[in-house]
Amino acid sequence: MGQNESAVSLKGRRILLGVTGSIAAYKAAQLCRLLVTAGAEVQVVMTPLAKQFITPLTMATLSKHPIRVEFFDPENGAWHSHVSLGEWADCYLIAPATANTLAKMAAGIADNLLLTTYLSARCPVVVAPAMDLDMYAHAATQQNLRTLAERNVRIVEPAEGELASGLHGKGRMAEPETIAAFVGELLTEKKKTLQGKRFVVTAGATIEAIDPVRFLSNHSSGKMGYAIAGELARRGAAVTLVSGRTSLDVPSGVERVDVLSAAEMYDAAVEAFKQADGAVLCAAVADYTPAEVADRKLQKGDGEMTLTLKRTRDIAAALGADKGDRLLVGFALETHDEQAHAEAKLHKKNLDFIVLNSLRDAGAGFRVDTNKVSFIDRSGREELPLMSKTEVASRIADKIENHLRACYAASQSKTTR
Ligand code: C5P
Repeated sequence: MGQNESAVSLKGRRILLGVTGSIAAYKAAQLCRLLVTAGAEVQVVMTPLAKQFITPLTMATLSKHPIRVEFFDPENGAWHSHVSLGEWADCYLIAPATANTLAKMAAGIADNLLLTTYLSARCPVVVAPAMDLDMYAHAATQQNLRTLAERNVRIVEPAEGELASGLHGKGRMAEPETIAAFVGELLTEKKKTLQGKRFVVTAGATIEAIDPVRFLSNHSSGKMGYAIAGELARRGAAVTLVSGRTSLDVPSGVERVDVLSAAEMYDAAVEAFKQADGAVLCAAVADYTPAEVADRKLQKGDGEMTLTLKRTRDIAAALGADKGDRLLVGFALETHDEQAHAEAKLHKKNLDFIVLNSLRDAGAGFRVDTNKVSFIDRSGREELPLMSKTEVASRIADKIENHLRACYAASQSKTTR
């Protein structure tokens, strides 16, 4: 994202800027100025402590609106409605956000106007944490950030650097330009950048029958794959979602093909890929399936029981062998030697890039709404911070778009040579 303030356009957007009691509150003045310059209408709500760090007069002058701190105006008793503030805003940006405010947000505490507004806001909420490195690294703060990310609060990661305490580390609020650009990106309508493209997405767990009653499966919820299918469709692509068992709703604009076993998923994915420009293989496909499926319920005996399993076919490898210059994205969920395993899969399955997540990272993996992933392609590894699965999907879609652009440029230069 560009650091250039003129690159951000927030024309006509309404931003509620929440300021909490951190030494970084002085940067809220510049942030407010940047938002106003970018065309936004800004109102400011402050915690009582924030007034000790930056004067309401400064913020009122820059935002061109009176500041809200109390639930009512002590002069005339006029009620400051947190509900109408939340309704008014297109985005509620809390910058700086202290450890204290983040903790209260996570716990649902509502003891000041900034927090009651958070609880009643329906618009996207963005926080820019600012604190000492040990407070930021503390398990409680990290847990609170995970909780907020799961509730789709967007987090502008703090930077590393010199802190007000004199220490050096991570906790310094991101620069106002970075925060303004983040909000700009969030509020910019996604253009139909994938219009005319067709993708296959596999998602969820497969089910391998043992008998009419039992099966082998895994913990995949399908959330990541559904988020990707939804994001590609939002950007205008035609999407066929080949879905194993999940309890999720079909994202709007997506065509879903329901399957149960790895073999059914293989057939559906291979068929859909014939017409596609690319595929994202997010499903947790069984590698083994019972060699024989009993047609009647297996009865228990007194001793041990042995199941013979046979290999399933690898969908990613099959599509990779036949992909030509189409795009293929795989996933790798690893518990150890992550990088080496992911790179091996990238080559073996002929993928363009692989999204690696490790079960060792808190907040990543099955069932949760957040993920912490890295992208691995032939040019190296890019690590992303912890974010919601919706945001991860958006970053994957960005990478797909970059890849398609690069392929197009390469094909153009070949034809003009
Ligand atoms: O080899 P592994 O299963 O770890 O590779 C993971 C990647 O391969 C994922 O993208 C997964 O969806 C895909 N895969 C597949 N068919 C299989 C097994 C895995 O498409 N039978």
